[in-house]
Amino acid sequence: MPQRRHAVTVRAVQQVFPTNSGAVVVDPVDLVHDDLRRSDGTRPWVLMNMISSADGATVVDGVSGGLGGDADRRLLGTLRGAADVILVGAGTVRAENYRSPRTPEDRVAVLRATSGRPPRPRLAVVSASLSLDPTAMMFSPVDPSDPPPLIYTATGAPVEGRHALTRMAEVVDAGTGNRVDVNLVVADLAKRGVGVVLAEGGPSLNHQLVDAGLVDELNLTISPLLAAGTARRILAGPVLRTPAGLKLDRVLTADGFLFCRYLLA
Ligand SMILES: NC(=O)c1ccc[n+]([C@@H]2O[C@H](COP(=O)([O-])OP(=O)(O)OC[C@H]3O[C@@H](n4cnc5c(N)ncnc54)[C@H](OP(=O)(O)O)[C@@H]3O)[C@@H](O)[C@H]2O)c1
Repeated sequence: MPQRRHAVTVRAVQQVFPTNSGAVVVDPVDLVHDDLRRSDGTRPWVLMNMISSADGATVVDGVSGGLGGDADRRLLGTLRGAADVILVGAGTVRAENYRSPRTPEDRVAVLRATSGRPPRPRLAVVSASLSLDPTAMMFSPVDPSDPPPLIYTATGAPVEGRHALTRMAEVVDAGTGNRVDVNLVVADLAKRGVGVVLAEGGPSLNHQLVDAGLVDELNLTISPLLAAGTARRILAGPVLRTPAGLKLDRVLTADGFLFCRYLLA
């Protein structure tokens, strides 16, 4: 899980758009819970969440933690509370030393239970190489009854890696050779009855999901920081075949961060 550092005193979260009469103080837990996330019924709703510096960098020193703050961390926890599955690329899992999703804070946990969700979202990782450390934190469940992580790979994945991971994960082929097809990943999640997928990056997986027209919502946190460097933007890949239009749905602010919710047009 991205460990976003820089704990600071969090002031109230204000909604700056849309409002009729200036900024209003809001509780993101209510907002996120009330957001409509209904896809067309053929696949889950896919919401992408990323943080970037004001100049578009997605990492500082190789991880996203240096961009974040307390309000951002709490919003991420709230979004995770709305998800059935957290989908992430193996590059992010390795860089950020992902662990299994935690139990969300009390109120989110209650809302989750009332909407019939299990206590925690399930982790799903995309990897061709299956080069994932079997002793990594992502393979330690919070509770022994939690389902193991899903690992989406392709038919050409190394046999040894497959063998090593089968004991601690559900390894699913979703592509041939060394290429996972994100359409097959999302179709498999749909078959499993997954309603909401939170895509947490990284930029190369984001690019594939957007390019395939599989993303419904983008939650973008803009950190009050200039970072420069060679870090990627939130999507990494060739120019999209069709640029994806965004409709600004909401802007919140706290501690100088902007939390923008867009719906894909
Ligand atoms: N700012 C933020 O909000 C944020 C969020 C997430 C990540 N990040 C940062 O982003 C960086 C990682 O991003 P990234 O774009 O390099 O990596 P990524 O998208 O997280 O992962 C790329 C890896 O995922 C697997 N993969 C992705 N698509 C695949 C496909 N179609 N077929 C087979 N395998 C596929 C491959 O794993 P294998 O190599 O195992 O085959 C590939 O090397 C990290 O530095 C992380 O800290 C930032």
